[in-house]
Amino acid sequence: MSEHVCAVGDLAPGEAMRTEVDGVAVAVVRDEAGGYHAIGDACTHGNVSLSDGEVEGATIECWLHGSTFDLRTGRPLSLPATKPVPVYLVTVEGEAVLVDATTVTNDQ
Ligand code: FES
Repeated sequence: MSEHVCAVGDLAPGEAMRTEVDGVAVAVVRDEAGGYHAIGDACTHGNVSLSDGEVEGATIECWLHGSTFDLRTGRPLSLPATKPVPVYLVTVEGEAVLVDATTVTNDQ
């Protein structure tokens, strides 16, 4: 089920925030083009919060060892992480950003 996580204006392009949806830690990320993404908020290398990382284009970089994850596919684009993070369904309805943490849209 989709949950309201923030308003469209709450994140500027290039910003990320941590939230919890149905008990799942989720990083809600606005890419630099303005699109919204929701990924698991745990780096698959060291289990640190990806929402504290740096957004570049449609990627986010883990702050600890620098793996970059594609926000659309969840795949790491650079080492040391080798496994994808889950990507969750995001919908924007009017001013509301909704995330469904029960719907994973990428291959794990
Ligand atoms: S903890 Fe994220 S790359 Fe190592």
